[in-house]
Amino acid sequence: MMSNWETFLSPYNQAVEELKVKLKGLRDQYQRSSNHTPIEFVTGRVKPVTSILEKAKRKGIALDRLTEEMQDIAGIRIVCQFVNDIDTIVELITSRTDFTIKESRDYIKQKKDSGYRSYHMVISYPVHTIDGRKEVLVEVQIRTMAMNFWATIEHSLNYKYSGEIPDNIKQRLQRAAEAAFRLDEEMSKIKGEVREAQQIIIRNREESRRTN
Ligand code: GTP
Ligand code: MG
Repeated sequence: MMSNWETFLSPYNQAVEELKVKLKGLRDQYQRSSNHTPIEFVTGRVKPVTSILEKAKRKGIALDRLTEEMQDIAGIRIVCQFVNDIDTIVELITSRTDFTIKESRDYIKQKKDSGYRSYHMVISYPVHTIDGRKEVLVEVQIRTMAMNFWATIEHSLNYKYSGEIPDNIKQRLQRAAEAAFRLDEEMSKIKGEVREAQQIIIRNREESRRTN
């Protein structure tokens, strides 16, 4: 017999699996088209029951209100190379008709005190079950590889220190976040200059073809 939790989480699992397939499909299309792909990789997870219970307790969410009030039982993460890829992905997600956007939070324009940067969207995703259609909330985090590196390390330190990271390490993490920000900026600039150089080469080639 299926446990209550398994029954409750099954549409969330379904949503995560479907979204991973859809997003990986987009990435493959970009790769075949020889355009730069704004999606480097996609991951997804369903929150473990112990974490759901811990967060419900911490935030005072009643267990019969989880569907409405816990936005990250299903989570998707889209990681890209460049900051402006994030805009492309946000546009892509906004233009879709297979789910609706509930909320957007831009922690890139407005980074968190910790140093955390990412673009978050909460979507309502319809899953078709044997009992009919059920909408589940999915938290979509969109970030660059540099943002992801920082967040992953900070997350494991938070885990290690049970959320009480010592002040000096917090400060170093903030400096590391600034370094990640500069890395993102520098990579974007290099990309822009490489593209400019390529366009000049193409233009010169066309020019010489015309004059020869
Ligand atoms: P929770 O932070 O999940 O309790 O919910 P919230 O309503 O505060 O939403 P928020 O947008 O702040 O955070 C949602 C998710 O973003 C978190 O579960 C993390 O995965 C991620 N996140 C937010 N802040 C940080 C941070 O400072 N460091 C790291 N590593 N991740 C963060
Ligand atoms: Mg938070």
